[in-house]
Amino acid sequence: MSNCFNGGAGWPEPVVRVQAVSDSCGATIPERYVKAPSDRPSLQGAAAPGGVVMNNIPVVDMSMPNADETARAVAAACREWGFFQAVNHGVRPDLLRRARAAWRGFFAQPAEARERYANSPATYEGYGSRLGTAKGGPLDWGDYYFLHLLPPSLESHDKWPSLPHTLRDTTEEYKEEVLELSRRVMRVMSRGLGLDDGRLLAAFGGEGSEGACMRVNFYPRCPQPELTLGVAAHSDPGGMTMLLVDDHVKGLQVRNADNQWITVDPVPNAFIVNVGDQIQVLSNAVYKSVEHRVTVSAAEDRLSLALFYNPRSDLPLAPMPELVAPPDRPALYPSMTFDEYRVDIRQRGLSGKPAQLRSPQTATTCAPPASSSSSASTLAR
Ligand code: OGA
Ligand code: NI
Repeated sequence: MSNCFNGGAGWPEPVVRVQAVSDSCGATIPERYVKAPSDRPSLQGAAAPGGVVMNNIPVVDMSMPNADETARAVAAACREWGFFQAVNHGVRPDLLRRARAAWRGFFAQPAEARERYANSPATYEGYGSRLGTAKGGPLDWGDYYFLHLLPPSLESHDKWPSLPHTLRDTTEEYKEEVLELSRRVMRVMSRGLGLDDGRLLAAFGGEGSEGACMRVNFYPRCPQPELTLGVAAHSDPGGMTMLLVDDHVKGLQVRNADNQWITVDPVPNAFIVNVGDQIQVLSNAVYKSVEHRVTVSAAEDRLSLALFYNPRSDLPLAPMPELVAPPDRPALYPSMTFDEYRVDIRQRGLSGKPAQLRSPQTATTCAPPASSSSSASTLAR
């Protein structure tokens, strides 16, 4: 492959951009992107017997005047699905359009311009095409741009693309508005747990102490979408994710309670909100951090913006005492900081959901920490 970059920046082998593979591979994708048969997506849709069912995650109107009603709807979604689409959320459609356009503009630039921001596994910040540093490890059909937003000491506009020229200002504006929405959703989630509106945010360290980062995903067209995934199945390790997906290409699939993969049918300009592992821990598994994955398309590329809203990273987190009541509801998880939790994520890349978060009903009280579990593996944040 002639389009190899960045082999010396901490990666075990030269990094190949999926965009370049997509442009040059013809009708057959390279072996490295081909998933095991059991992991391959079923793309036939609703008609396929036993295949993926078209259904949808709950949609919640964030502008309902009755706060208790909103909290009930959000809580039901977080308990059953770990996911919902927030509509009438107050972030202006024009800003959503500009944010998508700016980032599409970045990925539309010539390779040389993009490579100026090539990332390394030391921080993952910048333009990337893989997670995990195992040589010869599996690859997903997607490139991304990863950047830090909070705490302010980690935000560095120099590490954000300088072109298109609207990108930095637009991303800054997007950050402010989506963080405000995130804090609002936290209040609603907190009320939905029967707690004070501010309780969950306090458990995150309080306003101004949270962490936040963003992963802009770009999934190029793929000649064999039935063999690969844009992002393999994973749960999000952080607090909560605010996902803005493409307005016309589907791709996100969520595992439902019956273990079926449900293809999300996005409501235009909605935010897809999902519970991450840290809220599962804090809520003592009342709210679920659910596995999801991304399929790709032969016809069109797809862009998504995932803003990860996280607890303060050095704060020990454990199930909130109000939600612990032994012997019926013992604390299902030990106390751990988010820094400790994500220690090995950056090396291992991703697959599935950490074992001790999988089945809260059967989990042992105070299971061992994710970092010591051999199957623990989630997305780098
Ligand atoms: C993620 C993710 C989904 C998507 O970045 O963690 O799950 O639709 N993205 O791109
Ligand atoms: Ni995710």
